[in-house]
Formats: sequence, C-alpha cells, structure tokens
Amino acid sequence: MWVRKVNVKEVRVGLMGCGVVGSALAEILCEEHAVIAASSGVRLRLGKTLVRDVAKVRHGAAERLVLTDCLDVALEDRQEIVVELIGGDDVALRAVRRSLRAGKNVVTANKVILARYGEQLAELAHRKGCSLAYEASVGSCIPVLQSLDHTLASERFSALAGILNGTCNYILTRMERDGLGYEDAVREAQKKGLAEADPAADVSGSDAACKLVILARKAFNASLRPADVPTEGIESVSARDLAFAKTFGCAIRLLATARRSAAGLELRVGPHLVPFDHPFATVRNESNAMQLDGDSVGRLFFAGPGAGAKPTARAVLGDILSIATGERDCVPGRRSLDLERPLFRPAADAENRYYLRLSFDDQPHVLAGATRILDACGVEVHRVEALGAGHGDIVFLTHSTTRGRIQSALARLKRLRFLSEAARAFPVYDDQGDPS
Ligand code: HSE
Repeated sequence: MWVRKVNVKEVRVGLMGCGVVGSALAEILCEEHAVIAASSGVRLRLGKTLVRDVAKVRHGAAERLVLTDCLDVALEDRQEIVVELIGGDDVALRAVRRSLRAGKNVVTANKVILARYGEQLAELAHRKGCSLAYEASVGSCIPVLQSLDHTLASERFSALAGILNGTCNYILTRMERDGLGYEDAVREAQKKGLAEADPAADVSGSDAACKLVILARKAFNASLRPADVPTEGIESVSARDLAFAKTFGCAIRLLATARRSAAGLELRVGPHLVPFDHPFATVRNESNAMQLDGDSVGRLFFAGPGAGAKPTARAVLGDILSIATGERDCVPGRRSLDLERPLFRPAADAENRYYLRLSFDDQPHVLAGATRILDACGVEVHRVEALGAGHGDIVFLTHSTTRGRIQSALARLKRLRFLSEAARAFPVYDDQGDPS
C-alpha cells in the first residue's frame, strides 16, 4: 500500500468492551497501526480496556490488552476518545455519560442507548463541545448516517425503509434458500458473531426498531423513541410462510419502515412479503439495505454488510480517525438538537395488502368461517390458496386494507374452531413506485 510520510501525533483511546466488535477493533489496531499512523498522522494508543470478566481467556490481539473490570480505572484522564462497545444500557450508558461530562469524545455502536437516550446524549456532547460519533450503530459499515448528516443534511425525506438487522436477515435467508430450521439458523448467526448477546433483541425486532429511531430522527428531524415503533419480530415466520410467499412471487424480510404524509409519521418494524423484483428481496444473509425517498434527490439505495466483527470495527475506526484527525466534525450541531415531536399517523390506519395464513384441521369449515369473518371486517380477498385436506393451510392474499381491519379479523379468527395454530398476517411491502 502506498503511504504518505507525515508527522504523527499520539491520541489516547479508551476501549470499553472487548466482545466481538471490541476484539476485532483491537486486531485491526494491532495489525495496521503503522499504516494507520502513516496515512492519518495519528498513532492511536489504547489505555486500559474495560471488560466484564478479566479472567476470561482471550485470543489474538485481545490477549495483549491491559484489562480492567472497573469503569473508574478504565476512564483515564488523558484519554481524548472513549470507544464504547459494551452494549446494553447499563454500564455502557454510564461510561458514555461520564466520558462526555469529563469532556471526552465518544464513539459508540450502541443502538440501544442511542435510540433511548440519544437526544439527551447529543445535548450533553453539544454543551461540552465533544464529538459523539455512531456510524456503526446502524448498518455497520454502510455510511448512511454520515450521508444524512453531511451530503443530505438539507434534504427532506418522505419515506425510508430498510433491512436493519443482519441476524434476522441471515435467519430468514438461510431458512428460505437452504431449508435450515429456525433454531439452527439462530445458532449459526450467534456462532458467526452477528447476533446480540441475547438474540431475543434481534428476533423480536427491537434491535431494528432502535436503528429505525436513529435513522428516522435524522431523516425527518423528529424526536423519537423506540416505543413509537409498533414492532413485531420474526419468531412467527415459519418455513411454510416462506414457501407460500415464494408461490406469490415474494421473499419474506424483516423491514423497518417510516413514511411521512399529511396524516403524520408512520413507523413500523415487522416481517413483510417483498416482491422478488424489489432490491430488498435480493439482500441476503447478514447484509443490510436502506432505501430513502428524498423530495429533491429521488430514491437512494444503500446496501452492504450490516453486522459482523470486521465491518463494524471498520466503521468504529472510521469514527475514531475522523475525530482524532479533526477531518470530520462529529460534535452534535443545532440540526441534531432542534428535533420536534412529530404527529403520528395511527398505526391502525396504515394500509397494505396482506398475506394471511390459517392452519386447519377441517378445511371446509375454516375456509367458510374465515371468508365470512374477512368479509365482515371489510377485508377484500384477492387470491386464496389451500394446501392439504384433513390438515393443512389456507393462505389469503388480500387487496389493500388497513392494519386495524386485519387486527380485528385476527381477533375474530382466534375464535374459529378447527384452527390448529394462531393465524399469521404479514403486510406485503409496497414502496408506492419509484419517485425518481
Ligand atoms: N445483532 C445486530 C444485527 C448486530 O444482527 O444486525 C449489528 O447491529
């Protein structure tokens, strides 16, 4: 690699957390320290690293780190940048608040604290004149947040949608393409270092909801919290749903969506049927993708690795170097502070076509009963498929209807006899045409 010779300054960095991403960052810093110093003019010097368990056996560069399990010890006076990779909202939040109060710059990949407390943390960083950088918190190394902060800072957006959780996408695509069982796919995602410490945060949709809050805050200048996002996970998606979706020309993806209209802002995370001709259907394994509709720029599409040790560590390092070199200002400005609480469109009014699956023990009874209920709830059926006679599935594809109507139909369907499991209903994703 060609490297310029420049004067090198030393910047002390505190690493909080040495899990999947922390270890990968240590590895990169160890392997590339000379190249980083020569190309950026900054030599990053790691102080004591905060870990939960100092006795745990570590490998590679992490083996050579000086460890402590005490936050007071880890937060040294001379650190200019604190990198928080602990995760969760307990010690991580304390570490970030204390660092900012002490006037240190913070880099974090922690979507939970950013979604819940990001607005307060931005205020604190602004007051102290410190950077708060978190590119890795959404879409790992896909540079979507800095694009919203810089190139697209003045753009108005009407909609955004994304595959924001690598673990769920990995599970769904492994089930769909390779016939893997749900539990096996979850275990694989954990082994690959994609899943959160508790994968329930991934499969329940809560990780994607946090990322949607972080993205939508920037895209819509809106003050948001995770509770604003009606959220459903992928636990209820079965191999049968993936097979039925295929017969309708669709894949199933966990999508996070936000749309602004005169009726208000509409946010949602949940499994969606995605037509095969939409780019989201081609996003596989742990990849993430985001589609943003800007009033003047038209449609933008970002895609790439959305989880995993090295891509995430690379984005963290990008933030560290931006701050250390002073090349990118990450001190929250007025735009991140003057956020308004938006008017929300009631979730029940959201309109989509729906996929509805009923598993039965008696086909004629369930088909007749379900058709009556859908009709009574004002849900018009576009197509119906039935598989099996004694036991089997009936799948309805509806015309466009509201979430409220589908929910009242689901509540009534629960009372139907001869259903062998709870009915499943997933919206069909419709991005309402390409605005460009
Ligand atoms: N568990 C997260 C995911 C890690 O799978 O997307 C990246 O944020």
